[in-house]
Amino acid sequence: MSDTKAQLTINGKDPIDLPVYQGTTGPDVIDVRSLVSKGVFTYDPGFVSTAACDSQITYIDGNAGILLHRGYPIEQLAENSDFLEVCYLLLNGELPNPDERNIFENEIRYHTMVDQQIHEFFKGFPRTAHPMAMLCGIVGALSAFYHDTLEIDNHEHRIRAAIRIIAKMPTLAAMCYKHGIGQPFMYPQNNMSLSENFIHMLFGTPCDRPKVSPTIAKAMDTLFLLHADHEQNASTSTVRLAGSTGSNPYACVASGIAALWGPAHGGANEAVLDMLYEIGDESRIEEFILKAKDKDDPFRLMGFGHRVYKNYDPRATVIRGICNQVLEELGAENDPLFKIALKLEKIALEDEYFIERKLFPNVDFYSGIILKAIGIPTSLFTVIFATGRTPGWIAHWHEMLSESYRIGRPRQLYQGSTKRDYPR
Ligand code: CMC
Repeated sequence: MSDTKAQLTINGKDPIDLPVYQGTTGPDVIDVRSLVSKGVFTYDPGFVSTAACDSQITYIDGNAGILLHRGYPIEQLAENSDFLEVCYLLLNGELPNPDERNIFENEIRYHTMVDQQIHEFFKGFPRTAHPMAMLCGIVGALSAFYHDTLEIDNHEHRIRAAIRIIAKMPTLAAMCYKHGIGQPFMYPQNNMSLSENFIHMLFGTPCDRPKVSPTIAKAMDTLFLLHADHEQNASTSTVRLAGSTGSNPYACVASGIAALWGPAHGGANEAVLDMLYEIGDESRIEEFILKAKDKDDPFRLMGFGHRVYKNYDPRATVIRGICNQVLEELGAENDPLFKIALKLEKIALEDEYFIERKLFPNVDFYSGIILKAIGIPTSLFTVIFATGRTPGWIAHWHEMLSESYRIGRPRQLYQGSTKRDYPR
């Protein structure tokens, strides 16, 4: 694979040769797999310098603020493509031709409905359950319904499962909302696009089916698209790790949903809005900036900073633009939370603490403002992130299983007691 080598010398012993691989772009990668046979491990908590797999799906240059799916820049996809086409791209490697697009769209369209038993399943949850708690459980439970497509080494089964999960996620996401507010579940409509359908399932009732605004449907579609994949992030890595044991796709996606839930990952969009509410007024921004900089205070500016981006998150730029469009459409240009967010961003970007640490707004900083303006409650924000991220999870799972892979099994630097006898 490579003639380039790195040499590692431990305590003056003979150097160990380690192969160095070049990707099609991005940093070189040192293959450390042979080190275990020399009696040493590498140490990298948080996997900051570790490439855990080969992948051809998504590339990020965090310093330049670049995000590519199968080579296509996210800005171009957001402008010219749509969520379903990006799902196809992530899963299959190329953009679909019109026939392929039609077939894929129809496949998704006709798999949006969920088994009626799932309706019963929801009844077990209290109305106050967090939507992510319901989503996690119900997606895992889907494996009970699709025994016909659980052979993970079968390419056809994997694609069938991918289509089912991508198609059913918006339905389940809307059901989580409806359950919480005690309204009847709305069935998906086959004559609607994925995003129109989602809005219809959220806000329609059997008594009233409000017309879905094309601007809002487009905004929702672009939000899904912008979340569709993000390389080996925590939830995707979780899906891969679960998948590496041979688990079924529904269980793997459920594990990804669990990982996404935390406020350091997908839960940040909910946390951003809570933070903006707490700030409440432009006059209090400075106070919160000071809190974020105070090492004795656990508070962090939510929606700011990223493990990989040391530049403006390109998704945040697109989302800020959509935010303007949506607020204009809804006649809410003067939305106080948007005003606070804009001012907060400006102040943080001029502050030495944030400049030094290269902390910029990330994808979650503006998405909550759009969702809130559309009428979506904060507790559903991370569910929407999960719905958008589903094609990424499933594409990585499919890619891993299409190639040779081993069970994921990290090692450790043991710091506990050495062997001792049990007291008698
Ligand atoms: N507010 C204040 N300080 C921060 C922030 C923040 N939001 N983020 C990082 N820092 C500081 C941190 O205290 C540290 O300072 P020092 O060097 O003085 O100790 C430095 O910046 C580096 O931070 P880190 O925690 O080592 O960085 P990380 O790569 O481990 O964490 C992060 C990345 C996203 C978890 C973190 O920036 C964060 O907690 N941000 C807020 C939560 C958030 O918005 N998460 C959404 C991420 S994007 C969507 C997604 O991928 O799910």
